Amino acid sequence: MIYPINIIGSPVLRKVAEDIDQTYPNLHEFLENLKETMYETDGLGLAAPQVGKSVRIFVIDGSAIADDFPELADFKRTFINAHIVEKSEELQKASEGCLSIPGIHEEVDRHKKVRIQYRDENWQEQDETLEGMAAVILQHEYDHLDGILFTDKIAPLRKVLLKKKLERISKGDFEHRYKFKLGGK
Ligand code: NI
Repeated sequence: MIYPINIIGSPVLRKVAEDIDQTYPNLHEFLENLKETMYETDGLGLAAPQVGKSVRIFVIDGSAIADDFPELADFKRTFINAHIVEKSEELQKASEGCLSIPGIHEEVDRHKKVRIQYRDENWQEQDETLEGMAAVILQHEYDHLDGILFTDKIAPLRKVLLKKKLERISKGDFEHRYKFKLGGK
């Protein structure tokens, strides 16, 4: 099942998401649907709050850009109860976009290296350190669990310039490529 994507302005995108336990209803089905929705919308990743569920879950598949970033060829993961426990001081810049903010691409500073603890789709505990573009994608999806969007992190002047555009997007003024949900009104 393909979920509609919540667009900037939806309150669920601003909530801090919660951990789940194994009794979370229909977890397997939810993960399958989340992945299906990510592939259908051509996203490199998709976080549960983007489909209206305020839980600490996201999926990533970076293989679509493996031509440019070979290290992403095998970067396919399901993250449950994700918590970043270490970040490098050193930063890197990358251009980012987001299914919840269609049509906008901006440069963002991210930590070069992050260590994350989570459970995989088999409920196994994982502890992983990622760097480069994998770390960029990870931090973008992870921010969704804390109610943060990448446009919160762009340079102050760019933010001022984008304000009106983001307001228009929140009202549905963008190219409609996939099913979506507006939360503003
Ligand atoms: Ni996003």
